[in-house]
Amino acid sequence: MTISFTVNGDAHQVIDQLEMPLLWYLRDHADLKGTKFGCGIGQCGACTVHLDGYAVRSCSITLQMLDGKDIKTIEGLSNKLEKAVQTAWKKVDVPQCGYCQSGQIMAASALLSQNPNPSDEEINKAMTNICRCGTYVRIRKAIHEAADLAYEVG
Ligand code: FES
Ligand code: FES
Repeated sequence: MTISFTVNGDAHQVIDQLEMPLLWYLRDHADLKGTKFGCGIGQCGACTVHLDGYAVRSCSITLQMLDGKDIKTIEGLSNKLEKAVQTAWKKVDVPQCGYCQSGQIMAASALLSQNPNPSDEEINKAMTNICRCGTYVRIRKAIHEAADLAYEVG
């Protein structure tokens, strides 16, 4: 069985080890190290990527689930909204240790693509990624800033 999918627009095909979690594939086979391993059991969100535009935890998705799907990782962020999120993250100076932030940015950009102007409550509900450094207040602030940058200016 051949599984075909894209990662950041590039075509990938796999024929074996189909039980492998996508996170392992990204880091060890596609050499995309921006997606982080945290818990490995779908709890922390460090491994968040986009699957057909939605935030998913790549440690909990296996290759056999990916046929025909489009995956985007932190390395593939490129559109106006995604750049606005990155700019806002820098402007607000969100990261502390930084380990969770790839996943946070992926979750935030997926949220904003589905809800251009989320309330604090909607952010809290959507952003379930864990940050052991406790940057949640700055993450919320950066999401509002990114919404302004992406949708209200220019
Ligand atoms: S490493 Fe995937 S959710 Fe924690
Ligand atoms: S910035 Fe350190 S875990 Fe989030």
